[in-house]
Amino acid sequence: MTTTPTPIPRPDGIVGLHALRRMIRERSVIAAFEAFHEKLGNVFQLQLSGFHPVVLVGPDANRFVLVEQAAQLAWRSPTDPIARLLGHGLLVEDGEKMHDEPRAVMMNALRARIMPAYIDAMWRGTNTVLRTWQPGQQVDMLEAMRHLSLLIVFDALFRHDFAPDVHALWGHTMRLMRFISPGAWMIWTGAPSPGYAKARAAYDACLHGIIARRRASYDASQDDLLGLLIGAGYDDAMIRDEMMTMVVAGHDTTTALLAWAWLMLGQHPDALSAAREEARTVLGPADLDAPPPTHEQVRQLAYTESVVKETLRLYPPAHLGSRIALSALDYQGYHIPAGTRVIYSIYLTQRMAEYWPEPLAFRPERFARDAARPTAFSYLPFGGGPRLCIGNHFGEQQAIMVIARVLQCFEVDVLKQGVVMHMGATIEPRQGKHGISAVVRPRA
Ligand code: HEM
Repeated sequence: MTTTPTPIPRPDGIVGLHALRRMIRERSVIAAFEAFHEKLGNVFQLQLSGFHPVVLVGPDANRFVLVEQAAQLAWRSPTDPIARLLGHGLLVEDGEKMHDEPRAVMMNALRARIMPAYIDAMWRGTNTVLRTWQPGQQVDMLEAMRHLSLLIVFDALFRHDFAPDVHALWGHTMRLMRFISPGAWMIWTGAPSPGYAKARAAYDACLHGIIARRRASYDASQDDLLGLLIGAGYDDAMIRDEMMTMVVAGHDTTTALLAWAWLMLGQHPDALSAAREEARTVLGPADLDAPPPTHEQVRQLAYTESVVKETLRLYPPAHLGSRIALSALDYQGYHIPAGTRVIYSIYLTQRMAEYWPEPLAFRPERFARDAARPTAFSYLPFGGGPRLCIGNHFGEQQAIMVIARVLQCFEVDVLKQGVVMHMGATIEPRQGKHGISAVVRPRA
């Protein structure tokens, strides 16, 4: 006897209108996802013209997508803009040869125990940006965090000083990030993408220049990410794809995380003063020329770490993961036909009241080092399973170090009015067309 699958809930006119109203009121597409979740439950299917993803929410759903059925849920279709930009990069590839093998190579530069080696680069990149801040200046924190994140990725992973290129490539960087953001391509694969070809060519020229110079001076002792890729025998095209992947996946997420963290600290004066206090206690008085901290000092930034983790819960920069079902799947009585796009929602899961009491409250103490661990798969800002973010330790350490370094040297007064959640390649806080602003003053 065969059982009839439960129909997957879809928004009717009333639910659709409710979602639309929330989206307009909150000026955020995520508000529509929240409305569907509230009205339809943990499994629902969107009905946009040409775009019908099934959205699964909650720890069971996350385990199903990321672990139990990981082999049956391929990454994205090759026509998605991100796959077009990253080529054969790790983020968008599947299978042993194209995903697992390069991942194992690059993992050797991104394991937790390697992180002390990146303290200098993270310190340098942060200082470069902090040295440009004038007393009383209004700084676009999203832009500043992007600036230092780009410097850090190039410095730490490719041993390349990106400072001379960062301004010339800024517009191109932004264009590439817009290209891979949700947009018309989701319902129209031929949607035009003005400026993309030029931006991509400029980035390719930069990355190929770095590869060529490194090949000329390469020796087998070089164990940064670029050195490892060369040592493993990959050709230039593949190395370009992996480098582009690291630049895109490695800087935009950390940028957004840091921007949200500044907003959270701005909105929660107690958290801000605890983090300021910790920065001074662990790192010492303000000094832009101070040598980098030791690994032990970075480890002592426990409160700042909890601020970072709680920010990642409320505002996970990569708020969802998307896959394509390679075969028909059954999830809790729902039938998902082969070819369906399946989305797991990090954002909605991390705000479920069943797992997070007072889910909307910003409470770093949830992540104190002696606090109880969250239910498995209820907290997954870095995804999970075989595709767990390869840069999780890197991103967290960077965010902790940047926050502490800024607070050691500057008073940061965040302007809190009119913030909206913008859904680009990641979710970011924006005020109008800009990222969130803060007035900065050197600390005495
Ligand atoms: C706070 C910062 C970061 C966040 C929130 C974040 C989040 C994520 C998430 C959620 C995934 C899984 C996506 C999915 O399941 O489809 C992922 C994968 C990935 N991330 Fe990150 N990430 C961060 C930082 C980084 C950094 C610093 C790097 C590089 C140095 C990086 C490189 C990657 C790559 C290459 C993948 C694909 C891994 C694979 O498929 O095997 N990420 N990231």
